[in-house]
Amino acid sequence: MTIQYSRTVETLVEGRPTSDGAGVKLTRVLTGRLQQRLDPFLMLDAFANENPDDYIGGFPDHPHRGFETVTYMIAGRMRHRDSGGNEGLLQNGGMQWMTAGRGVIHSEMPEQEDGLMEGFQLWLNLPAKNKMVAGWYRDFPSESIPEFRTADGVTGRVLAGESHGVTGAMQRDATAPLYLDVHLPAGGRFEQPLPAGHNAFVYVYRGEADIGGTAVPVRRMAILANDPQSDGVMIESTTDTRLLLIAGQPLREPIAQYGPFVMNTEAELQQAVKDFRNGQLAG
Ligand code: CO
Repeated sequence: MTIQYSRTVETLVEGRPTSDGAGVKLTRVLTGRLQQRLDPFLMLDAFANENPDDYIGGFPDHPHRGFETVTYMIAGRMRHRDSGGNEGLLQNGGMQWMTAGRGVIHSEMPEQEDGLMEGFQLWLNLPAKNKMVAGWYRDFPSESIPEFRTADGVTGRVLAGESHGVTGAMQRDATAPLYLDVHLPAGGRFEQPLPAGHNAFVYVYRGEADIGGTAVPVRRMAILANDPQSDGVMIESTTDTRLLLIAGQPLREPIAQYGPFVMNTEAELQQAVKDFRNGQLAG
């Protein structure tokens, strides 16, 4: 596989330190102002906390409607419970994919009292026609996530989509999401074909990447330009590097968000709030 014309970096984004749930410290990498640009992705949070005070409060019961949450754990243990009666333990290298659809109320609570808790939560939008589907949930333990290794010694974990002949753990027709966790050795080089119209970004969580001559330091998101000539992206590394490569087909539908609800119109948001207050959001 050879990329003829790699995408370049359009913008580097540092992310905004914040806290959510019951005081969990995190960095909001993909914020509201980037939702149109990175359609169909609505949010990316990165968390990497050594101090239990920064995660022990977890995320007690809260609702969602209108999109999907994809939680990927690098290190640590979190217990998930939801209004659909689902329960699961997300840990080291595992992924949880939850379709909020018409409504889910869930909690995500740490099941550790010390040590590092590190991971990511990505919000993937649903097309208007699927926003009110029934909630759905699945845990993917680390060993169930398909992986590949290239001749250059690069390893990839395929959380969603397809890469290097490996079909990922999840597929979605409307948005064709690609979600890779790529590990490059020093002097490594990785190529990934990407449809030019798909929005794509990279988040480096160890080391430093080089994309088309732009250095992407650790804890930075690089938004990749949508050059119509490009056939993919080439990523290089001078040091041991780990990064997420995320891409998807934009929905090009209106986005209306109120906290944990993401719909297409204000009226639908008001309905979500009303349903939640009346106990009719979930189920
Ligand atoms: Co949640």
